[in-house]
Amino acid sequence: MNCDVLNKFGELFKSSPSFYAYSPGRVDLMGSHTDYNHGYVVTMPVDLQIECAFSANDSDDILTLYSCNFDTIVKVNVKTGQQVEGDDWGKYVSAVVKVVLDEGKQVKAFNGAFCSTVPVGSGLSSSAALEAAVIAILGQVSGFEIDKKNSALLTQKAENKYVGVNCGILDQYSVIFGEKHKVIKLDCRELNHSQVSWPKDVMVAICNTIKPRQLHGSEYDDRRADCEKAVAVIAQDHKNITHLRDVNIELFNEYKDKMPANVAKRAQFIIEENDRTHELEQALTKNDKALLKDVFHRSFVGARDLFEISNKEMNAMYEAMSTATGVVASRQAGAGFGGCMASLVYKDQLEDFKKDVFNKYKELTGIECEIYGVHTAKGTHIEAIEN
Ligand code: GLA
Repeated sequence: MNCDVLNKFGELFKSSPSFYAYSPGRVDLMGSHTDYNHGYVVTMPVDLQIECAFSANDSDDILTLYSCNFDTIVKVNVKTGQQVEGDDWGKYVSAVVKVVLDEGKQVKAFNGAFCSTVPVGSGLSSSAALEAAVIAILGQVSGFEIDKKNSALLTQKAENKYVGVNCGILDQYSVIFGEKHKVIKLDCRELNHSQVSWPKDVMVAICNTIKPRQLHGSEYDDRRADCEKAVAVIAQDHKNITHLRDVNIELFNEYKDKMPANVAKRAQFIIEENDRTHELEQALTKNDKALLKDVFHRSFVGARDLFEISNKEMNAMYEAMSTATGVVASRQAGAGFGGCMASLVYKDQLEDFKKDVFNKYKELTGIECEIYGVHTAKGTHIEAIEN
């Protein structure tokens, strides 16, 4: 445990917990905004994670969950899914209970206390990690099993329908299907994945701009809408095209002048970004450092100039990351609009990289950033606690 979850559980519930649930964050290494375009994403579950101690609560219908990070409790009625007490983060818990109830399952209550090392609202799927933990815990205490694919789809639905964020499948799939020692290439249409090979001398460093990102009611929905508009233009002549995944750059070039300028820019980015997921896979397989750098660079430039999801902090961070000791390649991560970014770094130079990024970013923005060297982690799972 990374903090005092066990003691806190004892203090709050006057008993010892029966289980731990673990649920990782994720970082995407290529494929920004390709998920809702039915494309590919190279993604990695990371060892920044939620750890939750819990036990079934057989005495009433109220689920009680404590967050060490916020030092607050939320309570949710498991018969209705309504949050009856507590903070804003309870909406994720309530949303998951509601989608499980919608499936016609009998849901039982639990008591839990969790700590998370996934920075909140920074593009590393802190909310998906919590949603995935909650659905796993509900299954454990209520005695039903939902397979990984349906857990991913249901937690995505919880986020779309009850939290009100129109996200794709990337976050929930990554945290639920994560496996230690595996970076995966996710096919967001087929909902399956393959492992990509990984160079021995390189690791991932996540650089947090400390500029929180807010998806709700943000430009995220506008980007989605622009992608759909681009598809609609091409689909007038090509009925089989339903998503930008189906459009190659030649076809796009035939139609781009029929699209509003912004729509064409967004579509171009997605089509190229989707192609870059294949390029990245090859670059990783060959351990071709020059290609890694170039693919990441083109991804960032496209995100900045075509998809327009960068901001001045991200631009400064890109400069800091790209010029730091030990860097191989750098780009955005998550939805953009602030939050975290990702670099590939020589393993034996991580500390120098961190120092350089910290200093340069501070010089450029005045902000003291956080940098995490991360490793792959096992996806959401539960372990019994031996007493
Ligand atoms: C957020 C969303 C994901 C995905 C990414 C961008 O993390 O939750 O579904 O769209 O942005 O790739």
